[in-house]
Amino acid sequence: MTAALSPVEPPLLEIDALSVTFDTRAGPVEALRSVSLVVEAGETLGLVGESGCGKSVTAQAVMGLVDVPGRISGGDVRWRGRSLVDPRNARFARSLRGREIGMVFQDPMTSLNPLMPIGAQIGEVLTRHLGLTKAQARARAVDLLAAVGIGAPRTRVDLHPHEMSGGMRQRVMIAMAIACEPALVLADEPTTALDVTVQAQILDLLADLQQRLGIAIVLVSHDLGVVAGLCHRVAVMYAGQVVESAGVEDLFARPAHPYTQGLLRSAPRLDDAPERLVGIEGAPPSLLDPPQGCGFLARCPIGDAACAVPPPARPVGPGRLAACVRPFTPAWGDDRSVIDERAEARR
Ligand SMILES: Nc1ncnc2c1ncn2[C@@H]1O[C@H](COP(=O)(O)OP(=O)(O)O)[C@@H](O)[C@H]1O
Ligand SMILES: [Mg+2]
Repeated sequence: MTAALSPVEPPLLEIDALSVTFDTRAGPVEALRSVSLVVEAGETLGLVGESGCGKSVTAQAVMGLVDVPGRISGGDVRWRGRSLVDPRNARFARSLRGREIGMVFQDPMTSLNPLMPIGAQIGEVLTRHLGLTKAQARARAVDLLAAVGIGAPRTRVDLHPHEMSGGMRQRVMIAMAIACEPALVLADEPTTALDVTVQAQILDLLADLQQRLGIAIVLVSHDLGVVAGLCHRVAVMYAGQVVESAGVEDLFARPAHPYTQGLLRSAPRLDDAPERLVGIEGAPPSLLDPPQGCGFLARCPIGDAACAVPPPARPVGPGRLAACVRPFTPAWGDDRSVIDERAEARR
């Protein structure tokens, strides 16, 4: 009677020990080193970390966009339990892109066709994936423009990208990404090129779509403020690895990994005096020859000889993981002076 035991539904997206290597002239660059992440239906996951830590490569791997000289050198990406890396599923993987998984990039100008009216570009997605006629696609494109907050959509549907502002173009990209009512949108630095006011509007739009349509979102950003506003969970990446993941409130109130601590300290905050801003000293390690042990050791205020072995991702609270030999646990409470004491002791 095994049928009575209903199997646990696999997550929407599961990145499992994924490694990506770029074969460069200088040697293999290990851009991702065993990255594991889970995205459940309808949730928003933030992916943060300094430039070059592997956020975009992670998004590209999900979309099947890692191309020569890059290759997936280990691990798997699964969609509702089915491998997207297994070459036998190549057709299945292709069928998801643009339909079940939408993508929004930093710079819409490079992803939109400058020669085609925006309505026709949105329409193309609809005819290709949903088989709509041209007239149906145009009508739906107008609806989508309205849904992403573009006024006078009937007129604007015929504009070319260069006739629109940066914020408008990003709304068009979002309209394209949600055109087929996908289960997941990957947004890679979607507001980085925009000024602060427009940035806030685009984030509001994403939050609104997420709630109304139940779309899961992976939001890639180097900006902690952006992630704090929109995400349910946050994964922090460093040197091609996930060093910490937690619910957004836990992560900001009680960061467990010294790198997350450093990131939060270096993030500008409106209510902080400028002298409180402390950058993290040093630079990430070269991914041509990454360290065997903890990648953050050279910059870590509390690291020591025990960190020369790879730190396993260990639970540090409900739904929380940190890859650190001595992570801060919630037992430390809210007392952030602890890290100061430990850093002091090491000096
Ligand atoms: N085309 C490429 N050739 C060689 N190395 C690359 C290439 N693309 C990315 N990388 C490597 O992958 C790392 C992660 O890149 P990326 O995911 O774009 O970082 P970010 O977190 O800023 O989005 C980079 O530091 C770089 O070493
Ligand atoms: Mg990037």
